[in-house]
Amino acid sequence: MPAPDSSPRPRILTGDTPTGRMHLGHFVGSLENRLRLQDQYECYFLIANMHAFTTRAEKPGEIRESTFEILRDWLAVGMDPQRSTFVLQTEVPAIAELSWFFSMLIPFNRVLRNPTLKTEIESKNLGDQYPFGFPLYAVGQCADILAFRPELVPVGEDQVAHIEMCREVARRFNQVYAGVDPHTEDDDYPAAGAIWPIPKALIGRVGRLVGTDGKQKMSKSLGNAIYLSDSPKEVKKKVAQIFTGRQSLTEPGDTSNALFQYVRCFIRDEARVAELEDRYSRGDNIGDGHVKAEVADAINAMLEPIRARRAEYETPDGEARLTEIIRDGTRRANEIAEETLYLAKDKMGLGFGKRRLGL
Ligand code: TRP
Repeated sequence: MPAPDSSPRPRILTGDTPTGRMHLGHFVGSLENRLRLQDQYECYFLIANMHAFTTRAEKPGEIRESTFEILRDWLAVGMDPQRSTFVLQTEVPAIAELSWFFSMLIPFNRVLRNPTLKTEIESKNLGDQYPFGFPLYAVGQCADILAFRPELVPVGEDQVAHIEMCREVARRFNQVYAGVDPHTEDDDYPAAGAIWPIPKALIGRVGRLVGTDGKQKMSKSLGNAIYLSDSPKEVKKKVAQIFTGRQSLTEPGDTSNALFQYVRCFIRDEARVAELEDRYSRGDNIGDGHVKAEVADAINAMLEPIRARRAEYETPDGEARLTEIIRDGTRRANEIAEETLYLAKDKMGLGFGKRRLGL
């Protein structure tokens, strides 16, 4: 294997909002991709703690605790701060500054039409009482991404609308300030003098994992999530609750139900999956309880090493080590984000000499 930084690798940026611990939906939607790409790309992983304030401004203590939980989950799954850069959003001033500039390039109504924001307003029951900063976070997310000039953004399906907005902002900034012809194909932007490439979303193996309620996507706020840090017993209990509506062992079952989405997602032996699907759909004397037990075992086998690694960071000195990791990553992140900001400001007629953050 070549030395990690022998030649520049294309970049990735993605991130998580610290609203709680991470669940299986995050794992198959995005974390797996991060692990897979960690060696081929220069990876930046962002904890979007500023965004957590959009809905929990009065709960700074919870946000701080969630920030550490996310870090523990990252380390537990095998994201590696030696090979990748872990970034804390609120320690990168260029992100906040770019957000301002980007907010001038996107119509207010366009932000409010963002379907991901609309869904969030509904699912979190925000009504019309959400703060000004709530829709602003979508613009901030464009800055999270573009500050690092990545080519790829590995995310779950729910984030695609945000990435699309980011692509619009990237094109527009490049056209307005870097003289890129509006007819330029997305892939040709770098060659046409653009500051940043037009980044692409990369969706995981399962873009949208259904929750244990069998209806909505897995999500903390809906109470239908299986967490990476759940105990084997909790996993068994939650899997046992997956609703299928099937009555008997001999009733032909519908393999498009939530339970079988889990079968296909977590039982990695393809022959076994095919056999289960076959018997279930024919009602060949196979009960939901049996299938659920196999699913729970498969999930628990997958989570076992993750739980073990997580425990290493749950010790009394754990937070100090996590803080060190985040400080180190953020230092590296600021180097590139500051460079991006400088390039952008220079193109905007705001070049008044390079500044240095006293980090
Ligand atoms: N909004 C994302 C989420 O809730 C988190 C996030 C913030 C993000 N900034 C990002 C994801 C930049 C990808 C790129 O999951």
